[in-house]
Amino acid sequence: MNSRIQQILGKAVEKNILSKGEIIAVLLCESPHNDALFRAADLVRKRHVGDAVHLRGIIEFSNYCRRNCRYCGLRCANKDLQRYRMTPDAIYQAALDAVALGYRTIVLQSGEDLFYDADTIAALVRRLKKLGVAVTLSLGERTYEEYRLWRKAGADRYLLKHETADPILYQKLHPDGNYADRLNCLSWLRELGYQVGSGCMVGLPGQTPEMLADDLLLLKELDVEMAGIGPFIPHPSTPLAEATAGTAEMTLKMVALARLLLPLAHLPATTALATVDGDGRAKALCSGANVVMLNVTPLEYRTFYEIYPQKERADKAPVTGRRQFDKMLAALGRPVAQDAGHSPKSEFQQAVS
Ligand code: 5AD
Ligand code: SF4
Repeated sequence: MNSRIQQILGKAVEKNILSKGEIIAVLLCESPHNDALFRAADLVRKRHVGDAVHLRGIIEFSNYCRRNCRYCGLRCANKDLQRYRMTPDAIYQAALDAVALGYRTIVLQSGEDLFYDADTIAALVRRLKKLGVAVTLSLGERTYEEYRLWRKAGADRYLLKHETADPILYQKLHPDGNYADRLNCLSWLRELGYQVGSGCMVGLPGQTPEMLADDLLLLKELDVEMAGIGPFIPHPSTPLAEATAGTAEMTLKMVALARLLLPLAHLPATTALATVDGDGRAKALCSGANVVMLNVTPLEYRTFYEIYPQKERADKAPVTGRRQFDKMLAALGRPVAQDAGHSPKSEFQQAVS
């Protein structure tokens, strides 16, 4: 094997540090070096966060969005999409069902939908916290006051992907967004004591290995508790309909590198990866990932939360999804985590729920 790659991987396993040049070299290397990368990430995962896989139940409660991200099927300019909003009671009921299935973290996700004001979300968070679960919010960019209120209401974590760390590509993809605003929100979330999740897409049009290296270095700099890394998948009702999807292989390499650089982070095996590669979830769990987010949204809404085209969304009831997942984990010899799945960093070990 190429001794430079071997040496880079050895350093990463021991020190969890890599230069931009080293990250790029690894991103550009091909099989069989990839296998060495995946093995190294698997080792670091086992050493620092163990074998347990953390399960999160995600409720996609509204597909309304005020934004126009060029890659996303929920963008407000997409008039082909039937929009829905779940009531707080319906969201609560979906959470109850998820808890009955054994979920210990509920993720509330939506487009950027200001219909749900800060107090409505805060009241919902308070209700969910009474169920003894960890609560993750993923509601996009909101004000400092709103983030503060939700944190006070008991929200444990917030997920806000930076999407790409290249400011120029960011601007091209987000006509109504701003890279500085994004980073600002992330620093507010940190300041408010959330366990912070961020992340990026892989294979975006115009994205280079240098940019991907910057994504990883940004995640490291932010010292995120969670990093969601998934392939870009073109959606037919967006301006990027004709673009090429990101590959499973490059996504797996990014997950593996994220594990090497952030040994304590929670890294999900993403649904987007499972969409481009049927075995993507299992492969990611063997390449550094330790989290799986399963959809627990009631079936009647599933098809409408179409960020990118996905075949199996409509027909997989929460209970079926859970059963398939258990089977896959059993085959990998990995147990389901029994705790709330807070960040293993010491400062979050006191987190209640
Ligand atoms: N392909 C893959 N991921 C996408 N997202 C949005 N659109 C796409 C797409 N076309 C991801 C973004 C966003 C999350 C809600 O979904 O990373 O943060
Ligand atoms: Fe809205 Fe998020 Fe989609 Fe952008 S990525 S259009 S903010 S749902």
